[in-house]
Amino acid sequence: MTKIEDRIGRRFEKLRISLLNTCNFSCVYCVSEDANDIPAVFSTNSIKEQPLTPDEFNRIISEIHSLNPLKSIRLTGGEPLLYRDLYTLIKNIRSIGINDIRLTTNAYYLKEKAIKLSEAGVKSVNISVDAIDRELFKRISRHPDPSRVFAGIEAAVKAGLNVKLNAVIMRGENDSQIIPLLDYATELGIKIRFLELMKMGHLYESKNGHFFSEAEILETIKEKYAIEKLPRKHAETANYWRTSNRGIFGIIANESTPFCHDCNRLRMDSNGIFYGCLSNAHGEKLAPHLHDKDQLTEKLKGLLLLKQPVRFHGSELSMRNIGG
Ligand code: 5AD
Ligand code: SF4
Repeated sequence: MTKIEDRIGRRFEKLRISLLNTCNFSCVYCVSEDANDIPAVFSTNSIKEQPLTPDEFNRIISEIHSLNPLKSIRLTGGEPLLYRDLYTLIKNIRSIGINDIRLTTNAYYLKEKAIKLSEAGVKSVNISVDAIDRELFKRISRHPDPSRVFAGIEAAVKAGLNVKLNAVIMRGENDSQIIPLLDYATELGIKIRFLELMKMGHLYESKNGHFFSEAEILETIKEKYAIEKLPRKHAETANYWRTSNRGIFGIIANESTPFCHDCNRLRMDSNGIFYGCLSNAHGEKLAPHLHDKDQLTEKLKGLLLLKQPVRFHGSELSMRNIGG
């Protein structure tokens, strides 16, 4: 088998699949204020299109896995819990020998699904939560009922899933929430990661005025806790620290501490379009090449070449389309 590897030893080991590009939230950093861009501000019934079926997803995944073994699959969105055939999809993925299946969700529907997901074989979930303060949460997510998110987080912990929280920190918006979020995660015994704002989607051409840096996040935390840096694991997007009260937090700092040099991620959107890198706005369908292993290998090598050497400079795509 030809190794699909680039000059600095990067390979595709993790596949992130955006199951559908719709979401019941419209987070301010992901969706612009333009009404046309907000399909479901205060609605939970936002499924507009039926994306690929589990069989279609599976055919693509299994061909890629046979050429380029995948260690794990992350199901994301949009909001992956809105995907109708989620449990079938998970079962199918496990049947091709990929057992490390993870999910990134806004947790709105997690309370009722946590146990079933765990039974289906999902190992871990990353949950986006940008504020503890409910009014602020409503403003950022543009959704009227954030309390379901907290019930979802707590149900996932109870169901034995490995839960991590993700919070995008924006100056003047939710930088006041860093400590409350950290304390909430520590009380639950789970990790939280703070993300520097990335210039994606409608923020692509912006000045990134709400940018709040890794150094500022650390300063904020150090005002309350002593912290100790933990060693970085290969291909981790986050660096982690431990606090004096035994909390563990990470920072995903695309600007301050870029992590492209050992990136091992391949992404597929809900239309079966593949992206070798977040900065790769156009992507490519691989379905037409599945029957020809040489062609597919060449295509994957081409996608690998699109990875940034050091740092990601933003993209016209939003996370809602490409998946986190
Ligand atoms: N900058 C930083 N993080 C973002 N996310 C979505 N859009 C952005 C952005 N522009 C986050 C979500 C989610 C993760 C997958 O990516 O909050 O937690
Ligand atoms: Fe939905 Fe995630 Fe985008 Fe928020 S960041 S609108 S939860 S896809």
